[in-house]
Amino acid sequence: MQDPLVDEAIASHKTYGSLEGQHALFSMLRRDDPVHWTEPSGYRPFWTISKHRDVMEIEKQNDKFINAPRTKLLSIDFESKVKEAMGGRPMLVRAINQMDNPDHAKYKKLTHAWFQPKQVRLLEESIGKLARESIDRMLAHDGACDFYNDVVVRFPLKVIMLILGIPDEHGQHLLDITRAYFGGGDPEMQRGSDLIGATMAYMDFFRGIARERRNHPTNDVATLIATAEVDGSLIGEFEASSYFVALASAGHDTTSATLAGGLLALIQNPDEMRKLRANPDMIPAAVDEMVRWVSPVKHFFRTATETSTLRGKTIRPGDHLMMAYPSANRDDEAFEQPFSFIVDRNPNRHVGFGFGIHACIGMYLAKIEMVIFFRELLARVDEIALTGEPAWIETSFLGGLKRLPISFKASEAAMA
Ligand code: HEM
Repeated sequence: MQDPLVDEAIASHKTYGSLEGQHALFSMLRRDDPVHWTEPSGYRPFWTISKHRDVMEIEKQNDKFINAPRTKLLSIDFESKVKEAMGGRPMLVRAINQMDNPDHAKYKKLTHAWFQPKQVRLLEESIGKLARESIDRMLAHDGACDFYNDVVVRFPLKVIMLILGIPDEHGQHLLDITRAYFGGGDPEMQRGSDLIGATMAYMDFFRGIARERRNHPTNDVATLIATAEVDGSLIGEFEASSYFVALASAGHDTTSATLAGGLLALIQNPDEMRKLRANPDMIPAAVDEMVRWVSPVKHFFRTATETSTLRGKTIRPGDHLMMAYPSANRDDEAFEQPFSFIVDRNPNRHVGFGFGIHACIGMYLAKIEMVIFFRELLARVDEIALTGEPAWIETSFLGGLKRLPISFKASEAAMA
């Protein structure tokens, strides 16, 4: 199938401005051309991989399909601006998602233990406090708010600041640069900034933190990265700042997008909301279903290192492949009733956190954060309803809702 309109749609930020829009496109691709050669104007071509099994197979073979050469969809024009800004280097940052082995394993190992369930559980109390503060702020809105902007946007950022050890006063600045970084093509989110500028602002901020921690080490992830050694030497400033950028940026919008998109799914599926309220022990499963449903990361790329065949198509060395996670997460060969939001879905082998060696380092942290948040929300807030049209960020890479207007009531149990 070679339809230029399809190719333009895959690359267009606008396609991702609604769940319906993106899923109409990807349902058609899964049915008609699941390994689709894509040549959108203004972009280097790539294969769009839309089936769950294929995404997992490719991500599993991390030596045949590598990350470094191209990690995400950027226009040719933008790619040349990056090279210009970076003195010939093709990327703005070099974090673990831009690395392959052996470096990937060495760098991932540095912080891996901090993101394992045992360590993350030690943060439960502090995360609980941040969740309670978010719900306090919601209740202070007196029955109506924009759930995304007034309630959830700061919560995951605060959790990531907690784990990194970044003081509170930097919160607003970090939020602004993160939103500019992930605004995609959406002018409302970029606020006049540009991605290169936003990345530089990020790198500058964290370079300062790294220097500070090298002089005054504390017990947090920031110190760990700033003072880490790889192959017997201190890691470079570029790699250290890139590591921070990856954790802070990836740990923030993904989670707030899932919280807001998850609540919208509950509002739109009142039976599921009732089921969850009656069975709060289903919240962990519901959170996984929210990640599947929202799939806030729309893609990551891989690049082939050798010739292979996938569903009859020949993939050649140097070919790029887009892993379309939202599509894989609606694949009827992997999920029963993929278009139904089911809070106790089991099994739920979604790829919303990716798969293989690059699978999300922060997935346990994200899940615990979201479980704690929904426990607090459902215990203290009742009668949640939409009061206007929700709006989604138009971005082909990472994002979710940018507006979720709701009305609500403080629950009687919480007021007693
Ligand atoms: C709901 C929340 C989240 C979602 C849906 C999500 C999703 C993803 C996805 C799809 C990937 C790519 C996996 C692949 O290439 O196979 C990824 C990687 C990554 N995520 Fe997350 N993420 C979330 C939360 C977090 C948090 C809280 C952090 C940080 C603490 C984080 C840090 C990272 C990092 C550093 C990587 C790169 C891992 C690597 O290349 O080895 N993410 N995430």
